[in-house]
Amino acid sequence: MALNKTRLDRFLAQYCQISRKHVRLMLAQNRVQINGVVAHHIDEIIDNFSHVMLDGEIIQANTAHYIMLNKPIGVVSATRDTQHKTVLDLLEYPFKNELHIVGRLDLNTSGLVLLTNDSRWSERLTLPEHKVIKRYIVSLENKLDESYVAAFAEGMYFGFEDITTKPAKLTIINDYQAEVELIEGRYHQIKRMFGRFRNPVTALHRCAIGNLQLDSELALSASRSLTALEVKNITQISMLDQ
Ligand code: URA
Repeated sequence: MALNKTRLDRFLAQYCQISRKHVRLMLAQNRVQINGVVAHHIDEIIDNFSHVMLDGEIIQANTAHYIMLNKPIGVVSATRDTQHKTVLDLLEYPFKNELHIVGRLDLNTSGLVLLTNDSRWSERLTLPEHKVIKRYIVSLENKLDESYVAAFAEGMYFGFEDITTKPAKLTIINDYQAEVELIEGRYHQIKRMFGRFRNPVTALHRCAIGNLQLDSELALSASRSLTALEVKNITQISMLDQ
Protein backbone atom coordinates (compact mmCIF):
# COMPACT_ATOMS: atom_id res chain seq x y z
CA MET A 1 0.00 0.00 0.00
CA ALA A 2 1.48 3.35 -1.01
CA LEU A 3 1.72 5.73 1.91
CA ASN A 4 -0.68 8.60 1.30
CA LYS A 5 -0.27 11.60 3.54
CA THR A 6 -2.93 14.22 3.89
CA ARG A 7 -4.00 17.04 6.17
CA LEU A 8 -6.62 16.13 8.72
CA ASP A 9 -9.11 18.79 7.55
CA ARG A 10 -8.90 17.55 3.96
CA PHE A 11 -9.35 13.93 5.06
CA LEU A 12 -12.40 14.70 7.26
CA ALA A 13 -14.01 17.07 4.76
CA GLN A 14 -13.78 14.37 2.11
CA TYR A 15 -14.84 11.51 4.36
CA CYS A 16 -17.87 13.34 5.87
CA GLN A 17 -18.63 15.38 2.74
CA ILE A 18 -18.60 18.60 4.75
CA SER A 19 -16.83 21.95 4.49
CA ARG A 20 -13.45 22.60 6.12
CA LYS A 21 -15.19 25.20 8.32
CA HIS A 22 -17.39 22.43 9.64
CA VAL A 23 -14.29 20.34 10.31
CA ARG A 24 -12.90 23.12 12.54
CA LEU A 25 -16.09 22.96 14.57
CA MET A 26 -15.79 19.18 14.95
CA LEU A 27 -12.24 19.55 16.23
CA ALA A 28 -13.25 22.33 18.64
CA GLN A 29 -15.89 19.95 20.02
CA ASN A 30 -13.20 17.28 20.68
CA ARG A 31 -15.04 14.78 18.45
CA VAL A 32 -12.00 13.47 16.58
CA GLN A 33 -9.21 11.21 17.83
CA ILE A 34 -6.02 10.31 15.96
CA ASN A 35 -4.16 7.29 17.26
CA GLY A 36 -6.06 7.55 20.54
CA VAL A 37 -5.38 11.25 21.13
CA VAL A 38 -7.98 14.03 20.71
CA ALA A 39 -7.09 16.03 17.61
CA HIS A 40 -7.14 19.83 17.66
CA HIS A 41 -5.22 20.96 14.59
CA ILE A 42 -6.65 21.07 11.08
CA ASP A 43 -3.15 20.79 9.63
CA GLU A 44 -2.20 17.61 11.48
CA ILE A 45 -0.76 15.20 8.92
CA ILE A 46 -2.23 11.72 8.83
CA ASP A 47 -1.47 8.75 6.63
CA ASN A 48 -3.30 5.59 5.70
CA PHE A 49 -2.01 3.81 8.80
CA SER A 50 -3.35 6.51 11.19
CA HIS A 51 -6.15 5.26 13.40
CA VAL A 52 -8.97 7.82 13.10
CA MET A 53 -12.11 7.96 15.28
CA LEU A 54 -15.07 10.30 14.98
CA ASP A 55 -17.66 10.47 17.76
CA GLY A 56 -16.27 7.25 19.20
CA GLU A 57 -16.52 5.33 15.90
CA ILE A 58 -13.53 4.07 13.94
CA ILE A 59 -13.50 5.64 10.49
CA GLN A 60 -10.02 4.49 9.43
CA ALA A 61 -7.98 1.65 10.91
CA ASN A 62 -5.55 0.28 8.36
CA THR A 63 -2.84 -1.74 10.05
CA ALA A 64 0.71 -1.98 8.80
CA HIS A 65 1.96 -5.56 8.57
CA TYR A 66 5.58 -6.74 8.55
CA ILE A 67 6.35 -10.43 7.99
CA MET A 68 9.58 -12.46 8.04
CA LEU A 69 9.52 -15.63 5.91
CA ASN A 70 12.10 -18.41 5.60
CA LYS A 71 11.86 -19.05 1.85
CA PRO A 72 12.79 -22.53 0.65
CA ILE A 73 14.36 -23.27 -2.73
CA GLY A 74 11.70 -23.83 -5.43
CA VAL A 75 9.30 -21.13 -4.25
CA VAL A 76 9.07 -18.04 -6.43
CA SER A 77 9.38 -14.50 -5.01
CA ALA A 78 6.18 -13.27 -6.62
CA THR A 79 2.61 -12.84 -5.54
CA ARG A 80 1.28 -14.86 -8.47
CA ASP A 81 2.81 -17.53 -10.72
CA THR A 82 1.39 -20.13 -13.05
CA GLN A 83 4.18 -22.72 -12.57
CA HIS A 84 5.52 -22.52 -9.04
CA LYS A 85 4.35 -22.05 -5.51
CA THR A 86 4.74 -18.39 -4.52
CA VAL A 87 5.86 -16.87 -1.22
CA LEU A 88 2.24 -15.73 -0.71
CA ASP A 89 1.09 -19.37 -0.98
CA LEU A 90 3.20 -20.08 2.12
CA LEU A 91 1.38 -17.48 4.25
CA GLU A 92 -1.89 -17.94 6.09
CA TYR A 93 -2.61 -14.40 7.28
CA PRO A 94 -6.06 -13.01 6.37
CA PHE A 95 -4.37 -9.83 5.08
CA LYS A 96 -1.79 -11.65 2.93
CA ASN A 97 -3.11 -10.31 -0.37
CA GLU A 98 -2.30 -6.75 0.74
CA LEU A 99 1.40 -7.60 1.04
CA HIS A 100 4.28 -6.96 -1.34
CA ILE A 101 7.79 -8.43 -1.31
CA VAL A 102 10.72 -6.39 -0.01
CA GLY A 103 13.56 -7.50 -2.30
CA ARG A 104 13.09 -10.71 -4.21
CA LEU A 105 15.19 -13.87 -4.08
CA ASP A 106 15.79 -16.17 -7.05
CA LEU A 107 13.83 -19.41 -7.31
CA ASN A 108 16.87 -21.43 -6.19
CA THR A 109 17.90 -19.03 -3.38
CA SER A 110 16.70 -19.68 0.17
CA GLY A 111 16.40 -17.54 3.26
CA LEU A 112 15.03 -14.28 4.55
CA VAL A 113 12.19 -12.66 2.63
CA LEU A 114 10.28 -9.71 4.10
CA LEU A 115 6.73 -8.85 3.14
CA THR A 116 4.76 -5.75 4.08
CA ASN A 117 1.94 -3.45 3.05
CA ASP A 118 3.98 -0.40 4.10
CA SER A 119 5.64 0.86 0.93
CA ARG A 120 7.57 3.62 2.67
CA TRP A 121 9.31 1.02 4.86
CA SER A 122 10.06 -1.27 1.91
CA GLU A 123 11.51 1.62 -0.07
CA ARG A 124 13.86 2.48 2.78
CA LEU A 125 15.12 -1.09 2.73
CA THR A 126 15.53 -1.54 -0.99
CA LEU A 127 16.77 1.75 -2.46
CA PRO A 128 20.61 1.54 -2.69
CA GLU A 129 21.02 5.14 -1.43
CA HIS A 130 19.81 4.02 1.99
CA LYS A 131 22.73 1.54 2.11
CA VAL A 132 20.87 -1.18 3.97
CA ILE A 133 22.97 -4.32 3.75
CA LYS A 134 21.64 -7.67 2.63
CA ARG A 135 23.83 -10.52 3.88
CA TYR A 136 24.18 -13.83 2.04
CA ILE A 137 26.01 -17.10 2.59
CA VAL A 138 27.32 -18.40 -0.72
CA SER A 139 28.60 -21.89 -1.52
CA LEU A 140 30.78 -22.33 -4.59
CA GLU A 141 31.89 -25.05 -6.94
CA ASN A 142 35.56 -23.98 -7.03
CA LYS A 143 38.00 -22.70 -4.42
CA LEU A 144 37.94 -19.05 -3.40
CA ASP A 145 40.99 -16.85 -2.93
CA GLU A 146 41.77 -13.33 -1.69
CA SER A 147 41.45 -11.80 -5.19
CA TYR A 148 37.66 -12.10 -4.86
CA VAL A 149 37.63 -9.72 -1.88
CA ALA A 150 39.14 -6.83 -3.84
CA ALA A 151 37.01 -7.46 -6.94
CA PHE A 152 33.78 -7.38 -4.92
CA ALA A 153 34.88 -4.25 -3.05
CA GLU A 154 35.82 -2.46 -6.28
CA GLY A 155 32.55 -3.22 -8.07
CA MET A 156 31.99 -4.95 -11.40
CA TYR A 157 30.74 -3.47 -14.64
CA PHE A 158 27.51 -5.07 -15.90
CA GLY A 159 27.26 -4.23 -19.61
CA PHE A 160 23.64 -5.26 -19.97
CA GLU A 161 22.46 -2.60 -17.48
CA ASP A 162 25.46 -0.31 -18.09
CA ILE A 163 26.16 0.00 -14.37
CA THR A 164 29.03 -0.76 -12.00
CA THR A 165 27.97 -2.62 -8.90
CA LYS A 166 28.28 -0.73 -5.63
CA PRO A 167 31.12 -1.81 -3.29
CA ALA A 168 30.30 -5.19 -1.78
CA LYS A 169 31.99 -6.91 1.13
CA LEU A 170 33.15 -10.50 0.68
CA THR A 171 34.45 -12.44 3.66
CA ILE A 172 35.93 -15.88 3.05
CA ILE A 173 34.49 -18.48 5.43
CA ASN A 174 36.39 -21.46 4.02
CA ASP A 175 37.73 -22.61 0.64
CA TYR A 176 34.24 -23.02 -0.84
CA GLN A 177 32.07 -20.64 1.18
CA ALA A 178 31.85 -16.87 1.60
CA GLU A 179 29.66 -14.28 3.24
CA VAL A 180 28.66 -11.47 0.89
CA GLU A 181 27.12 -8.13 1.86
CA LEU A 182 25.35 -6.05 -0.78
CA ILE A 183 23.48 -2.77 -0.58
CA GLU A 184 21.65 -3.31 -3.87
CA GLY A 185 19.82 -6.13 -5.57
CA ARG A 186 20.65 -6.37 -9.25
CA TYR A 187 19.27 -9.26 -11.28
CA HIS A 188 21.12 -12.48 -10.25
CA GLN A 189 23.78 -10.15 -8.84
CA ILE A 190 25.75 -12.59 -6.70
CA LYS A 191 25.72 -15.37 -9.27
CA ARG A 192 26.87 -12.96 -11.96
CA MET A 193 29.65 -11.59 -9.75
CA PHE A 194 31.02 -15.07 -9.08
CA GLY A 195 30.46 -15.80 -12.76
CA ARG A 196 33.29 -13.34 -13.48
CA PHE A 197 35.59 -15.87 -11.81
CA ARG A 198 33.96 -18.75 -13.66
CA ASN A 199 32.98 -20.07 -10.27
CA PRO A 200 29.37 -21.30 -10.21
CA VAL A 201 27.28 -20.70 -7.09
CA THR A 202 26.00 -24.03 -5.79
CA ALA A 203 23.89 -22.61 -2.93
CA LEU A 204 22.78 -19.12 -1.94
CA HIS A 205 21.05 -18.20 1.30
CA ARG A 206 20.05 -14.73 2.57
CA CYS A 207 20.57 -14.60 6.32
CA ALA A 208 20.01 -10.91 7.16
CA ILE A 209 18.61 -7.62 5.94
CA GLY A 210 20.00 -4.61 7.78
CA ASN A 211 19.89 -5.27 11.47
CA LEU A 212 17.44 -8.15 11.17
CA GLN A 213 18.68 -11.76 11.08
CA LEU A 214 16.57 -14.66 9.90
CA ASP A 215 15.52 -16.57 13.05
CA SER A 216 17.60 -19.73 13.26
CA GLU A 217 14.60 -21.59 14.72
CA LEU A 218 12.17 -20.49 11.97
CA ALA A 219 11.46 -23.64 9.93
CA LEU A 220 11.66 -23.57 6.14
CA SER A 221 8.41 -22.07 4.72
CA ALA A 222 7.44 -20.71 8.15
CA SER A 223 6.84 -17.03 8.85
CA ARG A 224 6.16 -14.66 11.71
CA SER A 225 5.28 -11.01 12.27
CA LEU A 226 8.11 -8.66 13.16
CA THR A 227 8.01 -6.85 16.49
CA ALA A 228 7.63 -3.05 16.54
CA LEU A 229 11.27 -2.80 17.64
CA GLU A 230 12.48 -4.97 14.75
CA VAL A 231 10.52 -2.82 12.29
CA LYS A 232 12.09 0.33 13.70
CA ASN A 233 15.64 -0.96 14.14
CA ILE A 234 16.10 -2.83 10.88
CA THR A 235 17.80 0.13 9.18
CA GLN A 236 20.12 0.99 12.06
CA ILE A 237 23.21 -0.74 10.63
CA SER A 238 24.63 0.15 7.25
CA MET A 239 27.88 -0.91 5.63
CA LEU A 240 29.27 2.64 6.00
CA ASP A 241 28.63 2.62 9.76
CA GLN A 242 30.75 -0.47 10.30
N1 URA B 1 21.95 -12.59 -5.93
C1 URA B 1 21.55 -13.61 -6.71
O1 URA B 1 22.25 -13.99 -7.64
N2 URA B 1 20.38 -14.20 -6.42
C2 URA B 1 19.60 -13.85 -5.37
O2 URA B 1 18.55 -14.44 -5.14
C3 URA B 1 20.04 -12.78 -4.57
C4 URA B 1 21.22 -12.16 -4.87
